[in-house]
Amino acid sequence: MIEFEQVSYWYSDVESLLEIKDEVLNSVSVVIQKGEFVVLLGRNGSGKSTLAKHCNGLLIPKRGKVTIDGLNTMQAENLWEIRQKVGLVFQNPDNQIIATTVEEDVAFGPENLGLPMEEIRRRLEEALSIVDMQDFRRKEPHLLSGGQKQRVAIAGVLAMHPEYLVLDEATSMLDPEGRGEIISLVSRLKGSITVFHITHYIEEAVNADRVMVMDEGRMVAQGTPREIFNLRDQIVTWGLELPQVTETAWLLREKYPHLFPTLPVSETELVDALCLSS
Ligand SMILES: Nc1ncnc2c1ncn2[C@@H]1O[C@H](COP(=O)(O)OP(=O)(O)O)[C@@H](O)[C@H]1O
Ligand SMILES: [Mg+2]
Repeated sequence: MIEFEQVSYWYSDVESLLEIKDEVLNSVSVVIQKGEFVVLLGRNGSGKSTLAKHCNGLLIPKRGKVTIDGLNTMQAENLWEIRQKVGLVFQNPDNQIIATTVEEDVAFGPENLGLPMEEIRRRLEEALSIVDMQDFRRKEPHLLSGGQKQRVAIAGVLAMHPEYLVLDEATSMLDPEGRGEIISLVSRLKGSITVFHITHYIEEAVNADRVMVMDEGRMVAQGTPREIFNLRDQIVTWGLELPQVTETAWLLREKYPHLFPTLPVSETELVDALCLSS
């Protein structure tokens, strides 16, 4: 379990050594249970990346505490174990790929762990197969599409066998096709590993077990995708956009109030609801 207890954070101005107490995280309390697929939504600048970096001790709370399976990130001696448990993927795949071929890149982490060759091979095959990149193993990463590069970056993290996978806007630099690839990969991972997917695209939350929304450093809402998508006015206030399907359902509902007893959150649900009512 990843647990944030009333975590506050502000960045210091290194040059003037001033502590600018502009709280980027403001008393955030969050629990992510083992096995969950949690999506965190929030507009640009709301504090999502700052929160992500607290999940494996890249940043340490200024107030409050973060624990991973009971290990406090404040204690330096816990950090190695914490980083084994929590794998982070960032938005720009180009900054995360270091080797000259796909397989060297994915094997890099396990090699650094000093694992036996056989185990490295096994993990490489497993990770490439999960992200469906076996056929690209000998390719140079810079020749791949954005979505493929991001899948390689994810494979590199999965090869370390983390218990928690934190994806910080892993889809935001990708074209629609690349985004689709990552979303379907995340759906496949659901249930086998804890996934904490951070995004400002609200439609990526449709399959989540739980959705959380951040705004201005505060956790402003938590619920099922349907509960969150129902908060139409707040979603606008938080600087997010309703998924097209849900927006369409809302407009239809305004005209025909009895059309949807429950709000459709996917195309299938919208079509089913319309077919049932006709
Ligand atoms: N290294 C940094 N130094 C100073 N301010 C920062 C730094 N990183 C982020 N910030 C500020 O913290 C706030 C939250 O940023 P961030 O956590 O990156 O939000 P998000 O990921 O939701 O876009 C923003 O106002 C941003 O400008
Ligand atoms: Mg960010």
